[in-house]
Order: sequence, then structure tokens, then C-alpha cells
Amino acid sequence: MSGHGTPIPMTSYRAGPLSGTAGVPGDKSISHRALILGALSVGETVITGLLEGDDVLDTAKAMRVFGAEVTRDADSTWRVNGVGVGGFAEPDQVIDCGNSGTGVRLIMGAMATSPITATFTGDASLNKRPMARVTDPLSLFGARAVGRAGGRLPMTVVGAADPVPVRYTVPVPSAQVKSSVLLAGLNAPGQTVVIEREATRDHTERMLSGFGAEIVTEETEEGRVITLTGQPELRPQTIVVPRDPSSAAFPVCAAIITPGSDVLVPNIGLNPTRAGLFTTLREMGADLAYENAREEGGEPVADLRARFSPDLSGVEVPPERAASMIDEYPVLSVVAAFATGRTVMRGVKELRVKESDRIAAMAAGLRAGGVAVEDGPDWWIVEGRGHGNVPGGQTCASHLDHRIAMSFMVMGMATQSPVSVDDASPIATSFPVFEPLMAALGADIRRG
Ligand code: S3P
Repeated sequence: MSGHGTPIPMTSYRAGPLSGTAGVPGDKSISHRALILGALSVGETVITGLLEGDDVLDTAKAMRVFGAEVTRDADSTWRVNGVGVGGFAEPDQVIDCGNSGTGVRLIMGAMATSPITATFTGDASLNKRPMARVTDPLSLFGARAVGRAGGRLPMTVVGAADPVPVRYTVPVPSAQVKSSVLLAGLNAPGQTVVIEREATRDHTERMLSGFGAEIVTEETEEGRVITLTGQPELRPQTIVVPRDPSSAAFPVCAAIITPGSDVLVPNIGLNPTRAGLFTTLREMGADLAYENAREEGGEPVADLRARFSPDLSGVEVPPERAASMIDEYPVLSVVAAFATGRTVMRGVKELRVKESDRIAAMAAGLRAGGVAVEDGPDWWIVEGRGHGNVPGGQTCASHLDHRIAMSFMVMGMATQSPVSVDDASPIATSFPVFEPLMAALGADIRRG
């Protein structure tokens, strides 16, 4: 688990051309959901391509504590023998979700409408993050939660013995909140309705439907209205987890800023609720092609081919695109430093409550590396210096945030002087093979 071990300082040196194929790991969002829905169905769900990062492993452990049998075959196939909707056992130990906001928020929802009590905790990063955004709607079902000041972990949730269905408009663009409410709605009688004004990643809806739940999404003037019929019998599934576009972002952006590079990142899901970064990079003038575009498991998929792009221009990222690239702003800000002109990112207040305050963390590291950044509560602007003109030479604090650590490692591949982070250990939460994968492409990243 990250944040509990010894910090791993890491430095990225100017790299030669990056080339080759980058097989990035499975999608983190889909991996969490596959384990949780597997645990809520009766029978054996078989999962291949699961992300074996700390965040997801913590969710697997939690599902075991709630009574599901979760095993891994030697060939990395995962099997979940679920307990059925409403079948969670009361945990006899504290559930430690490590660094994972998705894990804790989805699991709280999944247990909130069962007559059991569970106590949740996490690492120093997770224990700072707001949980009221899920415990508020979960209380409408009849659940109760007691945590630290400001609705922080550690927190105990007392599930509703007699849950009622809920109609809830999600006040912030958050797939975690939407998903938490939908998972709670599974064990409430009648119809639970979740309304989101801005579309966020829809993996929960797609997967619930795959497991046999009745779930309907309508686009209305109010936004997306999602209606779930409670107390379904979920049928176990065979799930092939696609590769994670949020992890693909790192080799793609590294290739775009590193002279001479040509990198192929195969089999990346281009679900429109996730692909905003790639659209933005193309608008900046990046040489990024979608090859072999196809459909797999109902999702648009392509092989991404990214080549060095010396003439990037700063852009204004439309705020309505934010949800579809919310985890990619840190690495976008690195690419923006190598562009000509300013890149303006607005409508991104949510970045302040991720694994770290991502605007503050990136702004501090970019400024220390010679890049001008302005920021406000829900916006930031990076002044591009143009290719070859980014000094670097700084050591950045990763604040227990995997994406901050990886973004600065990407930056160091094209700066004049190397870039360091104080602690790269959180990378293991989402991209455990980051170091060997980047090294195989030609990056020069060293511990220390
Ligand atoms: C996720 C939703 C997003 C994202 C996170 C994964 C999910 O968080 O940042 O990495 O799997 O539902 P929010 O729901 O807080 O936007």
C-alpha cells in the first residue's frame, strides 16, 4: 500500500527517442467495478486484464472481508464468487482502502443498504479527502455515517436495515458519487434515480446492465437521468478489462514531447467519457493517430500512435470536456509547458480534491522547473515555453499522488535538466509497471 512505506525518490533524465509498443495495464475504474459487481452477484465472475495495482488489490481485499471469495489464478485470471445483492457479511476488521477514493466511495455505496456496519480508513492522502459527497446521498437511503471533522476518514457507516429508494441529483461532476448511489440503489426496493448534469464516466451503468440489472439512461433537459430498478439478481459475468486510457496518457504524452519518438499504445478504450485528453492533444497539434479503430465489448477501441510533435500550440480546454479528462490535466499541463502560447484550463475545481490538490501540486513543480503558471479556485493557465526551452532541474513533491509523480517523470524526458520527485511510490496504485515500461521505450528514469 502506498503512503505507508519508505518514500522512493525518482529522477527522469533527458531521453533519446522513445520507440516501441507500450502495453499499458487494465483500466482502474473498470477493475474496481468488476470486483464489486462480481461480489454482488451469485456465482463465479471471471475477470481477465484486471489492473493489479494497489488500489484495485485493496478493493479485492475488501470484497473478501465482506464475504466474497476472490482468487487469482497463476495466469492472472481473477475469480470472484459473489454473495449476491444484499448478501454482504459484516466485516470483522477495518476496511483499508489505501490511496483509493474510487474504492472507498463505491464500497460505501455497495454496503450502505445492508444491515451491517463497516469502518473505513485509508492512507494519509485518502484520509484528507471529502466523503460527505457520498455519505450525504447514502443517508437518504437510511444509512448513517460518523467520521472525522469535515466528513473525513476514518469513518464508520451503519447500513440501512430498511432502505428506501432515492432520487438524487449529483451536485458535483463525479462518477464516484453517481456510482456509489447506484450501488446503494441495488439493495433498495423500487427505483433509484440518479441525475447528473454533466456526463461522467459511465462504466457502472454499462456494467450493471451487463450483470443483468434493469438500468435506463435518458438524456433530458435536466441532464442524464439514470433509473435503476432495485433488488435484481445479478448474474456473474466474464469480463475482459480494457487497457486504461488514463495510463496510456503517460507514454502518449512522453512520445509527443520527446524528440524523435514514435510509440504505439495498443487497445485503448476511447469511450467518449474518458477520451478528452486525446482530443485536446490533437487540437494542440500533436501527431497522435487512432489506428485500427474498432468496437470491443460495446466500447470504441483503437491503437494510439504518438509521435514527437515539435510544433504544439497552447489551447483553451472547454470546461464541458473536464469530466472526460479529469485525471489527465496533470500530464496535459506538462505537454502545455512544451507548447507555444498559453493553455487555459477552466471548470476544474474537482482537481483540488483528488489524491492531492492537483492544481497546486503541478503549479508548484512546473514553476520550480521554470514554467509560469497562474491559478485560481477552479482554473489554471500554463505559459508554454516551446519545445527545447523548458529548463527543468527541479525536485517536485508528489503528495502521495501517482499521477503527479508520473507527470513529472514525463516532464524530465524533454527538459534541459533532469526532473525529480520526492516520492514515486504511489505510482504502484495505478501503473505498477510504469518504470520497466517507460525504460523499454527508451526513457532514462532512475531511482534516487
Ligand atoms: C473515477 C472517477 C473520477 C476519477 C477517478 C476514478 C471512477 O473521480 O478522478 O480517478 O472510477 O469513478 P470523481 O468521481 O471524483 O470525479
